[in-house]
Amino acid sequence: MGAFDVSAELDQLSRTGTVFKESAILAGVYLDGQGTVTDPLDELTGLAEAAGVQVLDKIVQRRRKPEVATYIGTGKLDELKTVVDARDADLVIFDNDLAPSQTKNLEEVLNVRVLDRTELILDIFASRARTSEARLAVELAQLEYSLPRLKRMWSHLERQGVGGVGLRGPGEKQLEVDRRLAQKRILDLKKNLKEIHVRRQREVSSRKNSSRTVSLVGYTNAGKSTLLNRLTDSDVYVKDQLFATLDTRTRRWHLPNWGPVLLSDTVGFIRDLPHHLVASFRATLEEANQADLLLHIADASSVDVHEQIDAVYQVLTALGIREKDTLLVLNKMDAVDSDVLTMLLQKYPNAAAISAKSGLRLETLAVKVSDALSKEFLDLTITASVSNGSLAAMLAKEGEILSKQYTDETAVFHCRLPRYALGRLQRIPGITVHGLPEREPEKW
Ligand code: GTP
Repeated sequence: MGAFDVSAELDQLSRTGTVFKESAILAGVYLDGQGTVTDPLDELTGLAEAAGVQVLDKIVQRRRKPEVATYIGTGKLDELKTVVDARDADLVIFDNDLAPSQTKNLEEVLNVRVLDRTELILDIFASRARTSEARLAVELAQLEYSLPRLKRMWSHLERQGVGGVGLRGPGEKQLEVDRRLAQKRILDLKKNLKEIHVRRQREVSSRKNSSRTVSLVGYTNAGKSTLLNRLTDSDVYVKDQLFATLDTRTRRWHLPNWGPVLLSDTVGFIRDLPHHLVASFRATLEEANQADLLLHIADASSVDVHEQIDAVYQVLTALGIREKDTLLVLNKMDAVDSDVLTMLLQKYPNAAAISAKSGLRLETLAVKVSDALSKEFLDLTITASVSNGSLAAMLAKEGEILSKQYTDETAVFHCRLPRYALGRLQRIPGITVHGLPEREPEKW
């Protein structure tokens, strides 16, 4: 065996499930002033289970600041070691992001493998990625995460006895080779993903010219796929599992009083989503980026609904798509007490409360969506001379032509145009426009 094949090893370490069917102790260190959710390790438990890990026990510590060498304090680390030994755990999973040196120090003391939150999420993403695009995105995020940790991987592999010939005593030279290989692969992956992103941008924006697009975003497990299925009679994978969806799916939704719109489902978000992942999934989130409206689906039945809503806004901000028109949808109202629902609606008065599963209040949601889209669009009837050939092209490019009628001399277009296109319309001579918000009809 020549140089160590970093990506193959990473592949083995993650895709075949480093953490598959292993048992773990969860540990979380929360710093003073850091707002915590009701049960701080509840989400990590869900993530661990999503990765196929059996959770044996949990340990939580509150501190003013992290212990430099081990993140968790020394006394608590002793307690953790006792629990690990007593329960014969295979792993310890931290709800924090650990520096490579901290992971190494913890592994030395605990004598089992230590994963942090990012590693666990990457592992789940790797096992869920179905399309080649999602796989590339995950591989990039994994490599970027692993690059500064290659040294630890080496010692880890040695300890496990993985590899044998060619892997023994790698030394600094070998590490340097691996680092360069990993860096080269990172560059290649970035280039591939950039190409996919540009292609996707083009695809999405060409589709936009013919239909309005609505994108579903939300915390993982909030019910986005269920809603997409319900509204479009399709059959998208729904599972009570974190990150069941990693790829964008787009379906046609016939919106009452509006017409067809394109509805797309996106990857679920989570609090403190590893930033490598957010960056890698940019292409996948292009639908949301270019959508006319975002439907932010929240799980109203979760005790952490407020934190989850905030976490989604944070990820949207990180992606630069927060400025968009967003309609908050409080899903799973069938599973919520009416008092709780009233409280939620007081806090989020513009939200639509629905149940995607039982179909409750979907008509109200449809009205809110068409109202929100109408805020941005005008329903206009434009009369022009048939000789004005460029008008039809401009209307089709900027908006949507709902119908057209020709006589010998005139052409009448019923169309839906975004408000921002009015300026251009006003510059076209000899047309009459009906349906303008203030002075109508108007002759230019
Ligand atoms: P990710 O793919 O992880 O982002 O999840 P998602 O947001 O697409 O959620 P999904 O539609 O897969 O639903 C998650 C779980 O919530 C499933 O078990 C659904 O059956 C359940 N669920 C969805 N909508 C409702 C609802 O209105 N009420 C109830 N009680 N459960 C629901």
